[in-house]
Amino acid sequence: MTCLVIGTGGREHALARALAADPAVAAVHCAPGNPGIAAVATLHDVDQLDGEAVADLAVSLGADLVVVGPEAPLVAGVADVVRARGVAVFGPSGAAAQLEGSKTFAKEVMVAAGVPTAAAYTCTTAEEVAAALDEFGAPYVVKDDGLAAGKGVVVTSDRDAAVAHAAACERVVIEEYLDGPEVSLFAICGWDEERGTTVYPLQPAQDFKRIFDNDEGGNTGGMGAYTPLPWAPEGLVEEVLRDVLQPTVDEMARRGTPFTGLLYAGLALTSRGTRVVEFNTRFGDPETQPLLALLDSPLSPLLLGAANGTLDSVPAPAWKDGNAVAVVMASAGYPESSSKGDVIAGLDAAEALEGVHVIHAGTALSDAGEVVTAGGRVLAVVAVDTSLAAARDRAYAGVGEISFDGAQHRTDIALKAAHL
Ligand code: AMP
Ligand code: GLY
Repeated sequence: MTCLVIGTGGREHALARALAADPAVAAVHCAPGNPGIAAVATLHDVDQLDGEAVADLAVSLGADLVVVGPEAPLVAGVADVVRARGVAVFGPSGAAAQLEGSKTFAKEVMVAAGVPTAAAYTCTTAEEVAAALDEFGAPYVVKDDGLAAGKGVVVTSDRDAAVAHAAACERVVIEEYLDGPEVSLFAICGWDEERGTTVYPLQPAQDFKRIFDNDEGGNTGGMGAYTPLPWAPEGLVEEVLRDVLQPTVDEMARRGTPFTGLLYAGLALTSRGTRVVEFNTRFGDPETQPLLALLDSPLSPLLLGAANGTLDSVPAPAWKDGNAVAVVMASAGYPESSSKGDVIAGLDAAEALEGVHVIHAGTALSDAGEVVTAGGRVLAVVAVDTSLAAARDRAYAGVGEISFDGAQHRTDIALKAAHL
């Protein structure tokens, strides 16, 4: 079959790579893609937010499956346009993507479905903000209500900083602080009028959101990830399926906006139990990189089953033994800004290491044909091995081969977990 992946980041590279390795997939295309994706897919220069253009491309390629990677086209309804043209799409409708597109909507769904999450207020005035901050107390959690690529959230004990972030947002959600370690649990979700909902959780993973070691500095899109989690409580996946994922997709179906695609539950394992921090409606980045490195099942049947309502007839995902770690290398200035055009050296040397591959996120080709930086998160070095410590060592050996001006990476991805 022929697959078309929409997007340009690390998640899309990991998806395109897994599809290219799937024996059922004859051709992978990507729009707009990046130089790393070009090694596994044919690139097309199409605006990923333009549903008609994406649908035209899918039809002209004879695509059997379109995978919409990022949140922005999903929220813009690109999957709806492609689906309306009769092409199978992995990714929720614009209405269902509101689970990610609006934090207020997500809270409403969680409340209706009885899903455990932080208590929250949506505020539009300075008075409402002040009252909400006072009610919850420090540390303050202040979230832009709209899409913000993981960077619209400020967690701070500085009340002035909390007020300032709230003032910079049109609508803001202020919520109770959740303590405890974070877990990302993804589920592939399908729905069909007669067959109902099918929810296949993946392995738990953990992401590192802050820019600096020891979780210091500002929030980023994610600086590294690993899977599985040796410290995860037994039964976590079953609990989250029962208390979070299934009730959420059931509530979405009840509302007439069934959720299909990837439901990403960002969880905090708090002293009072598991709570949802956020939902995303697409594969997480960079967690997707280590997850797909360990997925033993072919990817295309799962995505196609979710896209066309037959997921219940596809076997649940199976996993390889072993551990996978991804370490992100970011450009100078990230996350406040980013640097473009810095030449990246050492990619081939890193790829030559056993058990290591490099996933491109913000890269481009210069006029001289060199791979250069083109965004905040530039790439992720992904490594697999039989232990977490060994996978970590391999990933950092890969990072050690790669250089560009101003490169930043965390040195503590999976460190604590590797030494349990
Ligand atoms: P979000 O965009 O909602 O995922 O938030 C980004 C990050 O901010 C999360 O991954 C957490 O690290 C942190 N965060 C969000 N909400 C809370 C909360 N209620 N309590 C503590 N930390 C939070
Ligand atoms: N890993 C965080 C995200 O994808 O939003």
